[in-house]
Amino acid sequence: MKHCLILIALFFLTPLVIPLFAKTKLTPVAMAYLNNLKVEAKKEDPSFQYFSVQKGQDLFQKEFMHSRKKKNRSCQTCHKKPTSTGRHERTGKVIQPLAPSANRKRFVKKSKINKWFKRNCKWVLERECTAKEKGDFLIWAFSL
Ligand code: HEC
Repeated sequence: MKHCLILIALFFLTPLVIPLFAKTKLTPVAMAYLNNLKVEAKKEDPSFQYFSVQKGQDLFQKEFMHSRKKKNRSCQTCHKKPTSTGRHERTGKVIQPLAPSANRKRFVKKSKINKWFKRNCKWVLERECTAKEKGDFLIWAFSL
């Protein structure tokens, strides 16, 4: 009986304490950020339940035709292979790896995450990303 209760408690607590998808331990900032995104995602869609690593990867790879430039853009355009360095499409500057497993300085500052989600989503999708899209993207990055 006691074991059973412990198991039940673990079942409910595990998703909060040990995100199972993660290869690299989530930074405290990323953890708090994800929790906020969960609340936002639920507001956007009351049937929301989980973020998806697969959907995060899909978003990273998906090409969006830019309405004015008439050219395909994706997150990959600049970030390239997420575990190695990328290159900014416009400025040519090197971008350090996106995956926290390859770059320990990733996702450690909330204002930075906010700034780049906003700027890059607008550049690629011509709109801001939804909370669901950001959450998918974040857990995908930590799964690499
Ligand atoms: C035009 C080039 C470009 C594209 C396309 C791009 N990024 Fe970025 N991204 C950058 C640059 C530059 C930085 C900031 C430099 C750095 O962090 O190395 C950055 C940083 C980020 C960060 C901040 C990570 C952190 O450490 O806090 C996030 C999140 C991010 N990008 C998400 C995305 C997403 C999502 C997409 C696709 C919708 C995307 N990026 C597409 C250039 C780009």
